[in-house]
Formats: sequence, structure tokens, C-alpha cells
Amino acid sequence: MAKVAFIGLGVMGYPMAGHLKVKGGHDVTVYNRTFAKAEKWTEQFGGKAASTPAAAAEGADYVFVCVGNDDDLRSVTTAEDGALAGMKAGAILIDNTTASAEVARELYEAARARGCAFLDAPVSGGQAGAENGVLTVMCGGDQETFDKARPVIDAYARMVGLMGPAGSGQLTKMINQICIAGLVQGLAEGIHFGKRAGLDIEKVVEVISKGAAGSWQMENRHKTMNEGKYDFGFAVDWMRKDLGIVLAEARRNGAKLPITALVDQFYGDVQEMGGNRWDTSSLLARLDRK
Ligand SMILES: NC(=O)c1ccc[n+]([C@@H]2O[C@H](COP(=O)([O-])OP(=O)(O)OC[C@H]3O[C@@H](n4cnc5c(N)ncnc54)[C@H](OP(=O)(O)O)[C@@H]3O)[C@@H](O)[C@H]2O)c1
Repeated sequence: MAKVAFIGLGVMGYPMAGHLKVKGGHDVTVYNRTFAKAEKWTEQFGGKAASTPAAAAEGADYVFVCVGNDDDLRSVTTAEDGALAGMKAGAILIDNTTASAEVARELYEAARARGCAFLDAPVSGGQAGAENGVLTVMCGGDQETFDKARPVIDAYARMVGLMGPAGSGQLTKMINQICIAGLVQGLAEGIHFGKRAGLDIEKVVEVISKGAAGSWQMENRHKTMNEGKYDFGFAVDWMRKDLGIVLAEARRNGAKLPITALVDQFYGDVQEMGGNRWDTSSLLARLDRK
């Protein structure tokens, strides 16, 4: 059993912190900007709630963070009452936010300067993956830090990998989002075409999902896409944030991402349709609109 802090009890962080307490059996202290959520969490899982990230991190061996973007991350880690201000030497900061590789390298250095360690550890698997404790975790950092943190991360993960030095976890998550963007647009076009052709989409997917076109998105999203239901899942606003990070990194490393850039614009159209919180499969709504 370790002493653990968890900062950011959103859609992802709330159940992840719960797994650290229940499945991991750790002594967990939580912090959330909106304190009511932290109170709700302690009522459900036990543990303690702190009023600042620094207070939550005090005495902890492992400090987890899962907030929105780079700036949110800086405000709960390197700000005056951020987690690093409260962390003891030797503690490990583990960031589950989807953020830039740049901020990961920045936090790696900031942690080192305080005698602490850092892992960037963005996740994939969505809300259901977090609730069921079966996330995929892509880590960047030192081997020794990874080896210590891995058994703790295991409480909410099915797959955990060390991808390379600090920032490599975020770079891997970027690849994940690049692969998803084009794929979801392809799936949306396929279903859109099938409807125009007058075919039974359920029947089409039942057959083609077992062949070379099959994918997680096809298996898990075709039904709701066919029904025009998007009020759930991984929000378009989050995807645009992620693709913004991807495209900025591609400008730096010279990668050519024509489809990703196009799909990013398509998500801009979905936002204009009012779909900010819709699931990313709502690319079909853009094609189906009259
Ligand atoms: N949802 C998914 O399916 C999914 C999948 C993979 C990765 N992710 C990534 O995981 C991260 C979290 O996603 P989520 O869906 O859990 O988001 P969310 O439900 O919107 O939760 C965000 C959390 O961060 C906190 N927060 C945001 N800005 C803050 C700030 N400046 N200072 C302090 N706390 C702040 C929020 O506090 P309040 O409660 O006070 O607002 C909340 O606890 C994001 O980077 C997202 O891209 C999400």
C-alpha cells in the first residue's frame, strides 16, 4: 500500500482515483478545483480531500494528475500551491492528462530540480475504460521511475508501456489520435454512403467488421452513428484540443498529416453545428446534415 494523491476528478480522473483506492488498496488523498466533486468522491470511496494540489501531494509517494490541457496542468503542478510545492523528495509525479510533449519535458525537469521524478502517462480507452479500470497507458520518462510506478498504475490499466524518454508518452498518444481521426472519417463516409445506397447498416457492419475494414470504432460506434446519437463519449472539443497538439508537433518535426489536418477542420464544422460535447463519431452528423 502506498500513499497516493490524485488531482482532477473529471470523467476520467474520478473513476481512476477510485481504482487506486479500491483495487490498488492505496491510501488516497484527492484534490478537485470544484470541491464538491472531491467531497462526493470521499463519500463514495473513503480517503481524504485536500483544498490545494500542494496539500494533497504532501507526504505522497505517487501524485497523479488528470486535468484538461497544458495550462491547466501547469496550474496544478508548478504554480505556487501546485503539487510540486508539496511533494517530498523521491516522490513520483504521474500525469494522465493528454498534453503536449513540450510540457511533459518541462515537468520532468521541474520534478528533477526538486529531487522528484516524473512520468507523462496519457491514456486511451475513454470513459468506459476508466470506469472499468482497463485503460491503455503510454508512458514517457526514466526506466527506474517507470518500474516503480507501474504496479500502482496497474490499478486502472490493462496495458502500460514505457515508450521512451519524457514526452514519449504524449507523442504516442498523438499517434493514437492521428490514427483515430482518419479512421472515424472513413467510417462516417462508409455509413453515410450505405444509407444513401439504401442498405441495412447493421447487416453491412455485421459482415464487414469481420474483414479487413473492422475496427474498434466500427464495432463500438456504428450503432449510435446509424441512429444519429452523439450525446456521450469522447467530446469533439477534447479531440480538437488533441489534434491542435498533434498539428503543432508536426510543424516542429516536419511530419505531413494532410488527412489529420482536414479532419480537424471537419470537427470545427461539428462545433459550429453545436456539437462541442458530442462524441467524435459525430463526423457523420456533418455529412448527414441537410
Ligand atoms: N474523456 C475521455 O474519454 C478521455 C479519454 C482519454 C483521454 N482524455 C484526456 O484526459 C483529460 C481529462 O479528461 P476528462 O474527460 O476527465 O475531462 P473533464 O471531465 O472535463 O475533467 C477535467 C478535470 O480537470 C479539472 N481542471 C481543469 N482545468 C483545471 C484547472 N485549471 N485547475 C484545476 N483543475 C482543473 C476539472 O476540475 P473541475 O471539476 O473543477 O472542472 C476536472 O476535474 C484530458 O486531457 C482529456 O483529453 C479524456
